[in-house]
Amino acid sequence: MTWLLAVVLLVVATALVLRWRRPAWYWLTFGVTLAALRILIHYGSVMDACGLTVPPSRWRLRLARMTNRDMPGPRAPRILRLKPTRTGLVLRIKLRPGQDAFDVAASTDRLRHSFALYGVSSRELRSGVVELRMTGYDVLKKVHMPAKTDLAPMRIPVALREDGAVHYRDYRAIPHALTLGATESGKSVYLRNLVAELAPRDVALVGIDCKQGVELFPLARRFSALADNPDTAAELLDALVDHMEGVYQTIRAHQGVASGIPDAEIAADIWDLPKDLRPVPIVVLVDEVAELALYANKIEEKRRDRIITALVRLAQLGRAAGVYLEICGQRFGSELGKGITMLRAQLSGRTAHRVNDESSANMAFGDIAPDAVLAAISIPADMKGVAISGDSTGGWSRIRAPHLSLRKAVNICNRHAKRTPDLPELAPFRPVLPHLKPIPAPTSKPAAAAA
Ligand SMILES: Nc1ncnc2c1ncn2[C@@H]1O[C@H](COP(=O)(O)OP(=O)(O)OP(=O)(O)O)[C@@H](O)[C@H]1O
Ligand SMILES: [Mg+2]
Repeated sequence: MTWLLAVVLLVVATALVLRWRRPAWYWLTFGVTLAALRILIHYGSVMDACGLTVPPSRWRLRLARMTNRDMPGPRAPRILRLKPTRTGLVLRIKLRPGQDAFDVAASTDRLRHSFALYGVSSRELRSGVVELRMTGYDVLKKVHMPAKTDLAPMRIPVALREDGAVHYRDYRAIPHALTLGATESGKSVYLRNLVAELAPRDVALVGIDCKQGVELFPLARRFSALADNPDTAAELLDALVDHMEGVYQTIRAHQGVASGIPDAEIAADIWDLPKDLRPVPIVVLVDEVAELALYANKIEEKRRDRIITALVRLAQLGRAAGVYLEICGQRFGSELGKGITMLRAQLSGRTAHRVNDESSANMAFGDIAPDAVLAAISIPADMKGVAISGDSTGGWSRIRAPHLSLRKAVNICNRHAKRTPDLPELAPFRPVLPHLKPIPAPTSKPAAAAA
């Protein structure tokens, strides 16, 4: 009996320690079973308390009366599936007649408290079927990406969402994106994660980093072209526009809209071309974009106009040629001058890290998801890397990229350096790598000094 008590105490102590120090392990070992039992046992009463039940139908009341049985009670939505996940549970329910997916969405906070879970969010899968995604602990506190993610081309797993799902940067669905955030909010780490995930794929990386290249130049071995100042950036962007025009010529040459050709084989973008003819897609990463739009004299103003024009052209026409823009900055509003709002309108993917004021958040979400503005301002300063990600459909979610150190990113880029494609138009901008410089012949000085 004593040994049984000792075992129980040991298990309870282990569970408590895990819950405190390693919430992810606690969830996988104890949490998931306890939470599933709690939901199944208390489901009816919790739904009733949260106002998510309907009174029994007339025919059930009549049947009870006719058969002299007890009167049936209110009915909760039917459970279709309860699936455990790495970070929580997914509950799929079928609504009763008269219920609305909005009722469930409005009760998510009450459900979270009642089931003692960390977070609950809901979405309507189809008419009458709602999915509740529940998390057992704060998954954004220390982000661990799942080992298995979707490997579709140009769909990059870059961060974790607060409901435990993976957040993808899908270049084919949303070709261009804007990432904003105050200084030290996590923009460059987000960009670094993107580079590390893109590095093993068949894609060319082009970087513009006007912070003298401190963020992107260490990753140079995986980059086909890099610029670390606005002058080089202007030339690089012009070269990209030339490349884009060349790709369109290739697509036209292989289009062939003859009557015998099936619709599916007529090429209108690079992904419709046969694999052996398809030009490599290019992701253009711009860090500290405001540097490209600032000027102090007439010559710099001309350069700025040239840069913004090239960026607008790439944003408007680049998608079909496989040129995708990823633009990062602290602010990106009309105060940066002519053409900025036009460019911003083309950047449909929006991510905002912590921002200091409402007007900065408005630059990201004001025109697409006004309620995300408040969420972006309320990100706490000690949660670096937490961001609000929205898209042009008005939906948004809280995300955080894993903390990837520069050293790890450099190692990943070096490991995949062989995949760096050579693009003839961008050859002048290929970074000069220190280890490729000719090693100077040893001088006789050290020997003389030793003597
Ligand atoms: N996802 C993250 N998880 C944990 N820590 C993070 C994350 N992202 C950023 N940080 C922390 O915040 C610091 C600043 O991040 P980062 O350099 O990306 O900010 P930034 O927005 O690019 O700043 P700046 O505008 O000054 O360049 C990092 O050194 C890191 O310690
Ligand atoms: Mg930065």
